[in-house]
Amino acid sequence: MAMRILSGIQPSGKLHIGNYFGMMRPALELAQKGDAFYFIADYHALTSVADPAELRQNVLDVALDFLACGLDPAKTVFYRQSDVPQVAELSWILSCVTPMPMLENCVSYKEKIAQGLTPNAGLFTYPVLQAADILIVQSNVVPVGKDQKQHIEITRDIASAFNRQFGEVFTIPESSIREAVAVMPGTDGRKMSKSYGNAVEIFGDEKATKKSIMGIVTDSQPMEAPKINLDQNIALQLLKVIAPDKAAEQETELAAGGYGYGELKKTLFATLMDYFAPMRQKRAELVKNLDHVEQVLRDGAARANAVASATMEKVRKATGLK
Ligand code: TRP
Repeated sequence: MAMRILSGIQPSGKLHIGNYFGMMRPALELAQKGDAFYFIADYHALTSVADPAELRQNVLDVALDFLACGLDPAKTVFYRQSDVPQVAELSWILSCVTPMPMLENCVSYKEKIAQGLTPNAGLFTYPVLQAADILIVQSNVVPVGKDQKQHIEITRDIASAFNRQFGEVFTIPESSIREAVAVMPGTDGRKMSKSYGNAVEIFGDEKATKKSIMGIVTDSQPMEAPKINLDQNIALQLLKVIAPDKAAEQETELAAGGYGYGELKKTLFATLMDYFAPMRQKRAELVKNLDHVEQVLRDGAARANAVASATMEKVRKATGLK
C-alpha cells in the first residue's frame, strides 16, 4: 500500500513567504510521494479564536492559498477537519487512554499559556485531538515543523497505549521533521512572523508588498562603495530563497561597487512578483468561484469520511462500544 501522509494546517491568517517556503512548498512536494491527506485544522483553531467571522475567513484563506499554490485536490485529500466529526469522537476515546502527566508535560501548552492564551480545556487536550487526526486515517508519515515533534511523540504513545489495551488497531506514525529550508528573515531581520509585523505577504496588495520590500532594513554603506558583509543583507537572503541565481548576480554587482541597495530591493520585488504571479492569478480566479472551493472541500471530506468511518468501526468494536 502507498505511504499515507497526513498533516494539519492551522488557519491563522495571511500567507507570507516564510510560510510558503518553510511549510507549504515542502508539503506540496511531499504530497507527490504517497497518498496525502491535508486538512485545515479548524477544531484546533477554536482553542484560540473566539470570533466566528475570523475563523471562517481564516479557513477560507487557507483553502484558497493551498489551491492557488498548486495543491491538486484530485490527488491530495484536502478537507476541513470539522467536516470529519468522527475525529472529535475518536479524540474522546483516546483521551481515556492518555495519562494526565503526558499532557501536563506538553511544552506547547505551557508556551501558549505563557503567551497569554486562555487556559481552556481544549488547549490542554489539543495533542489528543491531534492524535485523533493522525490515527483516524492510519497515517504512516506526518510532516511537521520542529515545534510539533512532541505532539507526534504523544500521538505515538497514545496509539501504543490504545493498541496494548484494546488490540492492534492503529498504525504507529513517524514524524518527518522539516529542517528549516532556509532561514527566512522578516523585513526587520527578526524571524518572519505575522505577529512581528515584518512579514512579506504573498497575496497582499502589490503596492503594500512593494512598500514592505523597499522598507527592508539595510546597513548604511554608501551607494558607490563595494559592499562588504553581504551575508547579513536581508534582501539578499530573501532573494536567495526565491531565486538563487538572481541572488548570485546581485551579489556580484553589489560587491563591485556603484550598485545600491535600492536596486537590489527593486530586483527582489520584481522577482517575487514574477515567482508568485501564476499563483496570484489562480487565487483571484478561485475567489470568484467560491462554490467550487466549497465543493473541493466537500469532496475531500467525503473521501476522508470513508477512511475515518472504517477506522471508527474497528475502534468501536475493539473498545466494546459496539
Ligand atoms: N498542531 C499543528 C500546528 O500547529 C496543526 C495540526 C493539527 C496537525 N492536527 C495535526 C499537524 C495533525 C500534523 C498532524 O501546526
